[in-house]
Amino acid sequence: MKLPKTNVSPTAFTNSMNRIKIVLLCTISALALAARAETTTVTVDANAGKPISPDLVGIFFEDLNYAADGGLYAELVQNRSFEYSATEQPSWGPLTGWEFLKRGGGAGELWVDSSGPIHPNNPHSALIQITSVGDGVGLSNSGFDGIPVKAGEQYDFSVFARLLNVGDRGHSKPVGKLPLSVRLETKDGVVLGEAGVQASSPADWKQLTATLTASQTVPDARLVVLAKEPGLIALDEVSLFPQKTFKGRKNGLRADLAQAIADLHPKFMRFPGGCLTHGDGLGNIYRWKDTIGPVEQRKGQANIWRYHQSVGLGYFEYFQFCEDIGAKPLPVLAAGVSCQNSTRTRGTGQQCIPMADMPAYIQDVLDLIEWANGPTNSIWGAKRAAAGHPAPFGLKYLGVGNEDKQTDGFRERFQMIYEAIRAKHPEITVVGTVGPAPSGEDFDLGWKFAGQLHVPIVDEHYYQSPEWFWDHLNRYDHYDRAKPKVYVGEYAAHDAKRRSTQRAALAEAAYLTSLEKNGDVVHFASYAPLLARRGHTQWTPDMIYFNGTDVFPTISYYVQQLFGLNAGDTCLPTAVSDSNEFAASSVRDSKTGDLIVKLVNGANTPRPLRIELNGVATLPRSATKTVLTGANADVANPDGGVPAAKPEVSPIEVGPVFDYEAPANSLTVIRVQSK
Ligand code: AHR
Repeated sequence: MKLPKTNVSPTAFTNSMNRIKIVLLCTISALALAARAETTTVTVDANAGKPISPDLVGIFFEDLNYAADGGLYAELVQNRSFEYSATEQPSWGPLTGWEFLKRGGGAGELWVDSSGPIHPNNPHSALIQITSVGDGVGLSNSGFDGIPVKAGEQYDFSVFARLLNVGDRGHSKPVGKLPLSVRLETKDGVVLGEAGVQASSPADWKQLTATLTASQTVPDARLVVLAKEPGLIALDEVSLFPQKTFKGRKNGLRADLAQAIADLHPKFMRFPGGCLTHGDGLGNIYRWKDTIGPVEQRKGQANIWRYHQSVGLGYFEYFQFCEDIGAKPLPVLAAGVSCQNSTRTRGTGQQCIPMADMPAYIQDVLDLIEWANGPTNSIWGAKRAAAGHPAPFGLKYLGVGNEDKQTDGFRERFQMIYEAIRAKHPEITVVGTVGPAPSGEDFDLGWKFAGQLHVPIVDEHYYQSPEWFWDHLNRYDHYDRAKPKVYVGEYAAHDAKRRSTQRAALAEAAYLTSLEKNGDVVHFASYAPLLARRGHTQWTPDMIYFNGTDVFPTISYYVQQLFGLNAGDTCLPTAVSDSNEFAASSVRDSKTGDLIVKLVNGANTPRPLRIELNGVATLPRSATKTVLTGANADVANPDGGVPAAKPEVSPIEVGPVFDYEAPANSLTVIRVQSK
């Protein structure tokens, strides 16, 4: 800056400049205070209230972004059944994820064999001929980006093995026994744990098991299986599970991810999707019967998201998980048509199951209900019992269709399925579908059709900008209460470039207040998608990111968690004097009697609030406030990492009227305890 020519010394000039700065700053602060003095009044009427769905907030699970295999399903071996194929990814085949090892002078050959499968659903196996043992001939598997192991923890290994007869593949010596060394190794070959199993004749498939204990914590170990004698052996269904699965279940779920989901307190869980449900062409529709029973007999298939689904996490594991976390199951079955946007069959659009095959398909749908709820002496109830769950699972809801194009083919098949369910199982509430978007042709036609059939609930989907969510807070205010109820089955706000930001999460929070207010018409809501493995995403944003060792919840996760934890069954009228970038809702939870007020400040400045709790007897009571805030609404957690905001709980003094300043960009939940 050029100094003006005066008789004032530079020091005196600087001092007077500083005084001017101070005066300016004081004026700006005074103006800011004046702006902040605009108090918003939030008036809760606890005398009134309407019943709302007690099951409003739940979860949407789809094997997308490696959510199941390489994700929630705790299996550590990738491609354990040698069933990967080029239809999934052009460079893939049965040996993807595997390495053939011939150590220290070992010699032999490896083939993919399909001459004598364990089960027709599991056609391929690895056939290894060991001609010279050396330091071992066999296979290694590097899991999903490496196998994470923890020092001192135990891992259950299993493999199906079959010794082949003399003469097969030119092998000349009969082998009655073939010992195998099973190891956990670092990628540099350091042994972290070892056990031995022994394959023996007769030459039928036999499962061998062992327990390995890891000596070190390593994020990217390998599983190694080495033959220690010459011979000819087929291996299949090579498996490694941590013993510490969620609730210690066999064939179970990854404990940390499952716990993160349980901590959402979801009231329901949708499964298996999403587009995965209706699949990539008719042959790819998700068939629930292929996903139960012994894992080596299940029918894995190409995932619509272009990888492999082993269906090790199948219907049994899904229902079991629902029970473990107290969520109602909400399975969704295809409506007799495939996905109109199938990626491999792109251009063919929606395909319809031929009418001649519809009776069998409908029977599959009815069988699912019997499998879930039927007595143990029913055909399908007996299968549930044989899997270890004689008690019924208590299925109440069943989705039919996902975002389907509203064609005649769809309508005809949906109606057949719907009427069959109603006739045989009137106790089941069917959830229909109204297309992929919050408006448009399929949406309108879907609603019209659902209305004609009196479908009890329909499934709406929308992935939109934060502004869209703020602009549509009154979407359900005017929905006809006599028409079908709504399941907001898939929704997420995303900023530009599909970023998951605090702004987006708060838009979802604001929207959830509007769903609570309309909880008499909106029965369920689930953010989508739920899970995404870092480096393997096909869709963003997602609620929970993870890698092999860590879980990274997003801000959206905490929003969902706060609504899940603070659900109610009566919505109390809640008026706000200024709804610009601000939303609020209040509920009462009849189980605890607590009154819960949710306040969303979407502005970049704090908002002074005057909260009036009308009609609440014996105030003040003890109350807590949980605040989710972060100064910068633009902060994103696109692929996991430390979330920019986490909820913090503290006590708050409340009375019939009390003041509270909602921080900038925040969700606050005030919970007034009844006792
Ligand atoms: O949630 C991701 C995908 O979005 C679902 O599979 C599909 O139903 C929707 O289009």
